Amino acid sequence: MTHTSEELAAMIVSVSMTVNGNATTLDVDPRCSLADTLRDSLGLTGTHLGCEHGVCGACTVLVGGEPARSCLMLTAQADGCEIVTIEGLSDGDTRSPIQEAMYQAMSFQCAFCSPGFIMSTVALLAENPNPTEREIREELSGNLCRCTGYQSIVAGVETAVEILSSQNILSSQNKERSGQ
Ligand code: FES
Ligand code: FES
Repeated sequence: MTHTSEELAAMIVSVSMTVNGNATTLDVDPRCSLADTLRDSLGLTGTHLGCEHGVCGACTVLVGGEPARSCLMLTAQADGCEIVTIEGLSDGDTRSPIQEAMYQAMSFQCAFCSPGFIMSTVALLAENPNPTEREIREELSGNLCRCTGYQSIVAGVETAVEILSSQNILSSQNKERSGQ
């Protein structure tokens, strides 16, 4: 079935969302996935597309702080939402603590899966700052890696826990010193 240009125009929807702290409004095809909008309209190609069927987790982003598979979510469903992608974690060339931990632990090989694992780890540690190895494996079981065998990724998450907890100790010591 073909549509007239008037019918196609009528199918465009306006979506307003905040992406990595930036408010943005876009006119999108209602059939467009959030992953495609992030990559093609906003140039945020750090969100990777593997299976495009909700299986591999490579496309994971945070929607309202919760991990979501952006290949399965329509952009229109993100209207009014706060989205964080892998690009939103680092400050320029400075890696976030979780990225630094994964780097130190040499967690990845080809790294195609890395944005999804890192975003899932951000969500995991926000909810559970000190997970056991079993909890890490369970929480990241929805992300697939074809290269590593997962041990180095788990080690990266454990390194992230150490880095974040030492940062928290330092920041509470600084607050105590400054009487806050
Ligand atoms: S690309 Fe979305 S889950 Fe695989
Ligand atoms: S490091 Fe290659 S897919 Fe995970």
